[in-house]
Amino acid sequence: MLPPAQDLLAWYDRHRRALPWRDGSGPPDPYRVWLSEVMLQQTTVAAVGPRYARFLARFPDVHALARAPWEEVAEEWAGLGYYARARNLHAGAKALAARNRFPDTVEDLRAIPGIGPYTAAAVAAIAFSRAVVPTDGNVERVTARVHAEEAPLPGAKKRLDALAQRWMDQDAARARPGDFAQALFDLGATICTPKRAACALCPWHECCAARRQGIQETLPRKAPKAARPTRHGVHFLVEDGAGRILVRRRPERGLLGGMLEVPGTPWRDDTWARAEALTHAPLAGLRWTALRGEAQHGFTHFELRMTLLRARHPGAAPEGCAWMARDAAQAAMPTVMRRLLALLDNEATPAEEARRR
Ligand code: ADE
Repeated sequence: MLPPAQDLLAWYDRHRRALPWRDGSGPPDPYRVWLSEVMLQQTTVAAVGPRYARFLARFPDVHALARAPWEEVAEEWAGLGYYARARNLHAGAKALAARNRFPDTVEDLRAIPGIGPYTAAAVAAIAFSRAVVPTDGNVERVTARVHAEEAPLPGAKKRLDALAQRWMDQDAARARPGDFAQALFDLGATICTPKRAACALCPWHECCAARRQGIQETLPRKAPKAARPTRHGVHFLVEDGAGRILVRRRPERGLLGGMLEVPGTPWRDDTWARAEALTHAPLAGLRWTALRGEAQHGFTHFELRMTLLRARHPGAAPEGCAWMARDAAQAAMPTVMRRLLALLDNEATPAEEARRR
């Protein structure tokens, strides 16, 4: 039996979350739907809210985003996770601006650079009422539970998506695909949550196979993860004594492509001896002091541990680097660099230092 779409929709009509991209006046603007979906792929609903409004104030439509220089988009994206997504958004906006209308099917949306299967399905369902289920992590979990699918993720992804698409065979779902999708998101976020399932409140209580077997909270199963390797880097904080720090831009291609960074060694599997690390310093002959502690940041494929050396240099910026006010640099830098600079907060003030001696 298919889980009844009308029960889920009736639940959604009563309990839907009030979210900024669901303002309810008229048909949803596809640009806004697209933006919210891209943001939500890596950040929580609560964190996206204010950033979504801020982004729209700065880039109110596809044309505004397409016209903007990359640096501005990157700056607005700071703290929202992988810059590759912002790059895709920017590239997608340029492709969309060159057309005279927003593509309105999954297939045509997929043809836009940077729009993947999930985003295409979400925009098609929510903005254009196409009969498709956008299968994100919430939907995978609900599907695995409703059908008591015990095959582990990520292998089970295709099967779970196929099961969820079958729900669209119901007239009630086909009448409101955007609401059906968002009802699934809300169910997954508020009732059918990863650690706890509040089955007593669930509109699909009756039809849920996992609940009948009492295994709902063990699903979806997950294949054991390979451990992420650790890499190490040493970075060099050069200050001019007037509030500016030395920054450098990362190569366009690759991890954090084109973003600002505090100059440093490459990130490698081995730790660095100080003398070896210093061969990568942006300036020779400075007096470096090591800051206490290590900063950490998790990338998809490795865990990074960084230490920070600090020195003063009131002169000209060396080739490939530039001076920038520390606050502005910090605002424009990716999270990994902000974690690194947070090591400064552990430093003792000169008065504390004197007391310790
Ligand atoms: N997660 C992904 N897309 C969402 C949406 N449109 N509403 C709520 N949560 C979501």
